[in-house]
Amino acid sequence: MKALVLAGGTGSRLRPFTHTGAKQLLPVANRPVLFYALDSLVAAGIREVGVVVGSHGREIRELAGDGAEFGLRITYLQQSRPLGLAHAVRIARDFLGDDDFLLYLGDNYLPQGVTDFVRLAAADAAAARLLLTPVADPSAFGVAEVDAEGNVLRLEEKPDTPRSALALIGVYAFSPAVHEAVRAIAPSARGELEITHAVQWMVDQGLCVRAETTTRPWRDTGSAEDMLEVNRHVLDGLEGRIEGKVDAHSTLIGRVRVAEGAVVRGSRVVGPVVIGAGAVVSNSSVGPYTSIGEDCRVEDSAVEYSVLLRGAQVEGASRIEASLIGRGAVVGPAPRLPQAHRLVIGDHSKVYLTP
Ligand code: TTP
Repeated sequence: MKALVLAGGTGSRLRPFTHTGAKQLLPVANRPVLFYALDSLVAAGIREVGVVVGSHGREIRELAGDGAEFGLRITYLQQSRPLGLAHAVRIARDFLGDDDFLLYLGDNYLPQGVTDFVRLAAADAAAARLLLTPVADPSAFGVAEVDAEGNVLRLEEKPDTPRSALALIGVYAFSPAVHEAVRAIAPSARGELEITHAVQWMVDQGLCVRAETTTRPWRDTGSAEDMLEVNRHVLDGLEGRIEGKVDAHSTLIGRVRVAEGAVVRGSRVVGPVVIGAGAVVSNSSVGPYTSIGEDCRVEDSAVEYSVLLRGAQVEGASRIEASLIGRGAVVGPAPRLPQAHRLVIGDHSKVYLTP
């Protein structure tokens, strides 16, 4: 079985981060979220992977390379514009050939991996197999209606009045029958070729489409809130390791990872926390559930339940929490007077001011 990993898209919910980088490379415990997906493919025994990329393709190619580092062979497939998940399958036609394949949305995080799902898909001859999970707000997702035997009866994309609470998780297994389906459908009202429409087309043709339902945790890292939650989840499984320098005036509590070349001075760090190479934390309180990226600086500040991307600086901030701070961003104290906020922030940024 091959895999097709989708790492293009618009990423509008993660602006401004996606103006300058791919959302699939945003770090979870200081490692791109895409890499967890690649690891899970290897664990499931998959070796041939097509990665669909869009406008940030070069950065993804540079970081994931030919896949050898993961034990994979990666072929990159350039999508001209984010025209939908089914469009991404269309452009991968030659790469996929007549093989069965796993479609994996590259911003999804499944802590349990895909091994069981791949095993089930390999064991039966369904034309398509979906993974579903019950959610509180199905109208924000692709929703499936399934009979008692696990046969999919109907799919809807973000329905106003959902017929079930079962949302599609970003992992699908397909036989080559899907290629005819993605060619047969027309763009949706939002102008995308929807994979749910392609699967519905398969159901309408009388093909066997089956679904597994899982209640194990799953997360799409599509928004800043989701990113923080996935980061929290991954940090929960972190093993502490001190390779950098921690001075005698610092206290580390719980599982804390300080990478080689990082420095912690006069600070209190409550794990789980990861501090990346070259980062300096001084006279501060950090954690729990915080990832400090490589080459960051945290000084005279308190940071909790947050993610700082590479090179971010936080100085003199009495309390930062539930925050995602971009690469090279600077958060510092304003001059005492005048009583006004001075802001230099990019398009679509979100700034929350305390009155
Ligand atoms: P989505 O999160 O559904 O779409 P998006 O990336 O455009 O984000 P937003 O809704 O915030 O604008 O995409 C799921 C995954 O599939 C994600 O990893 C991006 C990828 N993708 C493609 O590779 N090509 C596409 O045409 C689309 C729509 C998404």
